[in-house]
This record gives sequence, C-alpha cells and structure tokens, in this order.
Amino acid sequence: MGYGSRAEIARLGKVGGIVLDGVDVDDVSRRITVTPDLPERMLIDGRPVDPPPGLVLILNKPLGMTCSHKEDGALVYDVLPDRWRRRDPAISTIGRLDKQTSGLLLLTDDGDLLHRVISPKRHVAKVYRATLARSLTGMEGALFSSGDLVLEGDDKPLAPAVLEPITQTEARLTVTEGRYHQVRRMFAAVGNHVEALHRERLGGLALPGDLQPGHWRRATSDEVMAIFA
Ligand code: URA
Repeated sequence: MGYGSRAEIARLGKVGGIVLDGVDVDDVSRRITVTPDLPERMLIDGRPVDPPPGLVLILNKPLGMTCSHKEDGALVYDVLPDRWRRRDPAISTIGRLDKQTSGLLLLTDDGDLLHRVISPKRHVAKVYRATLARSLTGMEGALFSSGDLVLEGDDKPLAPAVLEPITQTEARLTVTEGRYHQVRRMFAAVGNHVEALHRERLGGLALPGDLQPGHWRRATSDEVMAIFA
C-alpha cells in the first residue's frame, strides 16, 4: 500500500506506529488478513490505514493535467497521496482525458473493472460538453449518428454517436468508443474546432456537482454500479 519497505514497517511497528483493534502491533511477522473494514480497525501513525485494493476514485479533472504516469508536467496522480504511487496493484485512470479536457475521470487499481468500463463491447456511454469555435451547421447530428463517419487516419467507421445542440456553439455529444482525441477529431471532420471539452458522464454516473475541479473522492458501490446502468 506504499507505506514503506519491510524494514521501514518493522521499525514503525517497534515504535508503536501500528495499532490494530486498539493494540500495538510490534511483531511485524504477524499476518493480518486484509479486509474492507481494515481502515476502521488499523491506525498507522495515528491515522486510519488507507483503503485496501479495490479502490475506485472519482476525480473532477482540471485543465492542464495529463493522464500519464511518466510524462513531464502536472499529472492527475499528483492530486493523490504521495505514497499511493507505490501501491501495488497500481492505481490507473480508467481511459484518458486530454490534458486540455476537464471533468469526470475515474481511477482504479481494479484491472477487471477498468477493462469492463473501457471495453467497446460494453458500450458505456461517455457524455461530453463541447464548446466550438464555429456555429453548428445542423448537419453534424446526422453524420455523427450514421455509423459511416471514418476519421482521418482510422480505417473503421465510428459507432453511431448522439449530438444534442445546446447553443449555436455548444453541444453535448454521447459516444460509446474511446478513440484517440475522438471528440476533437469528430468536430474537425465537420470543419469545426473544439475550444473547450468537459466530460459530464460515464454510463449512468454523472460528475458529482459538489466535486470541485482538482478534487476527488472514493466512489460508492452504487456509483460504480451506475456506470453500467
Ligand atoms: N475526446 C477528445 O477529443 N478528448 C478527450 O479528452 C476525450 C474525448
């Protein structure tokens, strides 16, 4: 869980830094079963131990952060506790948002869940709000929903997508795939340009209204289920 090496944890145990059910754990060879209630039972340095594997986090991704473990500059992982970088299994984003896209981003250490959300077979809807450089012409919706649009550089047409105009230069777009820069490339294909992009929803899970940009929290099990609803 990233708290330290075996030697570091042994030292921590010796100085009373690990408490389980109110009792110091100084014999660090002791095996402790990892159960979901461990954070209620175990203190590390006086604080509840981090949640065990099976984490699902909801982040309101701010502009300017990259969904990568290794690139330079601000990364979405920077908003999480430092020791979480050392967790095994590692925490990864479920799909990616561009550096200049904001909104709903999930992170997890659960590989099965990650694959279920991004698998094209599951058709999990991704809902974006796009602000455009030019006015909508009125022909975009028919093309996006046709299932015939082939983006530059792709060989397969896009699955049908649903466009909902909001104003002349703002639209909501629902897609079920996660191709590279998909929304920006779709609007480029109709001669427009996306100036701002925000993800509002994944499946039945909306970005919680009380989650400010750059803030995150654990998803409840109902929220995880809502993704597939
Ligand atoms: N489509 C894009 O072009 N960018 C994103 O970040 C997500 C979807």
